[in-house]
Amino acid sequence: MQRASQTSLIRSNLAWFFLTMAFLYIFYTNILLSDNGKDCPVNATNLSAQENTEPIESTTNLSSTSITSKVEEKKEEEIVKMLSQRSQGYDTELKHIVFGIAASSNLWERRKEYIKVWWRPKVTRGVVWLDKRVKVRKEEGLPKIQISENTSSFKYTNRQGQRSALRISRVVSETLRLGMKDVRWFVMGDDDTVFIVENVVRVLSKYDHRQFYYVGSSSESHIQNIFFSYSMAYGGGGFAISYPLAKELAKMQDRCINRYPALYGSDDRMHACMAELGVPLTKELGFHQYDVYGNLLGLLTSHPVTPLVSLHHLDVVQPIFPGMTQVKALQRLLDSAKFDSASLLQQSICYDAERFWSITVSWGYAVQLMRGVMSPRELEMPTRTFLNWYQRADYTAYAFNTRPLMRHPCQKPFVFYVSKIRYDPVRNQTIGIYYRDKAASPYCRWRMDSPEKLESVVVFKTTDNLRWQKSPRRDCCRVLPSKKTSSMYLWVGNCQEGEISELVQEQTL
Ligand SMILES: *[C@@H]1O[C@H](CO)[C@@H](O)[C@H](O)[C@H]1NC(C)=O
Ligand SMILES: *[C@@H]1O[C@H](CO)[C@@H](O)[C@H](O)[C@H]1NC(C)=O
Ligand SMILES: *[C@@H]1O[C@H](CO)[C@@H](O)[C@H](O)[C@H]1NC(C)=O
Ligand SMILES: *[C@@H]1O[C@H](CO)[C@@H](O)[C@H](O)[C@H]1NC(C)=O
Ligand SMILES: *[C@@H]1O[C@H](CO)[C@@H](O)[C@H](O)[C@H]1NC(C)=O
Repeated sequence: MQRASQTSLIRSNLAWFFLTMAFLYIFYTNILLSDNGKDCPVNATNLSAQENTEPIESTTNLSSTSITSKVEEKKEEEIVKMLSQRSQGYDTELKHIVFGIAASSNLWERRKEYIKVWWRPKVTRGVVWLDKRVKVRKEEGLPKIQISENTSSFKYTNRQGQRSALRISRVVSETLRLGMKDVRWFVMGDDDTVFIVENVVRVLSKYDHRQFYYVGSSSESHIQNIFFSYSMAYGGGGFAISYPLAKELAKMQDRCINRYPALYGSDDRMHACMAELGVPLTKELGFHQYDVYGNLLGLLTSHPVTPLVSLHHLDVVQPIFPGMTQVKALQRLLDSAKFDSASLLQQSICYDAERFWSITVSWGYAVQLMRGVMSPRELEMPTRTFLNWYQRADYTAYAFNTRPLMRHPCQKPFVFYVSKIRYDPVRNQTIGIYYRDKAASPYCRWRMDSPEKLESVVVFKTTDNLRWQKSPRRDCCRVLPSKKTSSMYLWVGNCQEGEISELVQEQTL
């Protein structure tokens, strides 16, 4: 009984609801049409006169279709035009980029060596921001040093972090206020960040510097990203802010910083202000925070198919080439970059069909040979040669897929590190020599050739400066015939039509 009366009540309510909606619909259609009278071909006065004789729907239908079809035609033309402009990219050069390096005076003597690795006196533009004055020698070829403004009036309440975060988060605004001319981008980094400057240019020239852009990448550590944010650019990996965005930021940053006294660092403060500005992070996977410990080999040899932009936490991880200081090791990597910066670390995968080996080349850095055939889908995944930020070997801790270094002792990679690259003008190719790391390998019972017999791998590659103007694709590699038993010769370059990473066995006749 009660249920029935309830349903009828609902029904009558529904009827009223629909009537009201119908009325509102007619009412608002009129208002909207008369409001738009100026752009609209239908004369509003005429429309209301017709109201009594013609159903309103057909009128709106007719008028709206005729408007939209015209507008759409025009829009489509504009979109096509805009897209063609977009694909050409922007002619951003190194001279349009200003680096803002966040440093501290007590680590300066040690950390400045990392800056020297990538900084080019009189070519790169930028400033190092310090808390206190330090001794400087002119012949060192380091960027100009500036002392940050006093931030003691800002609130800072985080118990784990340091107040210097306030100073560092203001580096962008303070660099802007120096008033340098012809700046398109501000690129922030720490004193232990190494940039591959050509690739900074390659990545940023994809974006319109006249718009608001916040470009960078998240951490390797899933936990860090949960704690901070997946949409925050990690400061150590470096990030870029377009000039107009820096101007807008400078207007509000101090107010913004005071709203977040409890945050930990400088980059989460920057992210908080970006969120207030409503500008999302544009992710570029070539910026590397490297929130890991141990050996970067696994990460460096399976770099995403995108230009290598930066490396960070170089004091925390082992030297990237064994048996060298980290600074010397980085210099060696950047020596490779001089020949083909666009391809630095780019991976290619092929197989030695005679010896049943899997080969992965990380151009300009290392070649790895493994016994047996492993699929490209596995080889393009970083091996866990490193530990996570909590110094544990926990594979669930990363924001990307990883794999163990080996699933069987016989499959442990033999690593050949780059020693020297030179350009051969006759072949118009770079020739790189990679020597085997003499680290001990586990005993292997498999009755097949061991890569241990090889001393070196020689890699031939044609320079490819324009590769990132095409769709991203791994290079291909091929094993070249060789008479020497102690060397392997490899070709690396653009895949030919139909060429893929597969084991091609010779047909048995
Ligand atoms: C609309 O039509 C009426 C007569 O039908 C006319 O007086 C009025 O000027 C017209 N308005 C516009 C904007 O064309
Ligand atoms: C308005 O309606 C009148 C007739 O009702 C017509 O003569 C006139 O052309 C109409 N004007 C417009 C702008 O549609
Ligand atoms: C909408 O307009 C099209 C043609 O322009 C017509 O065929 C159709 O019947 C109209 N629909 C309504 C609901 O009036
Ligand atoms: C910064 O300002 C505070 C007062 O606002 C002052 O006590 C302090 O000495 C200043 N620090 C420096 C390094 O000038
Ligand atoms: C070398 O090779 C590149 C890429 O194929 C080509 O653009 C360039 O013109 C060549 N240079 C010479 C000197 O042949």
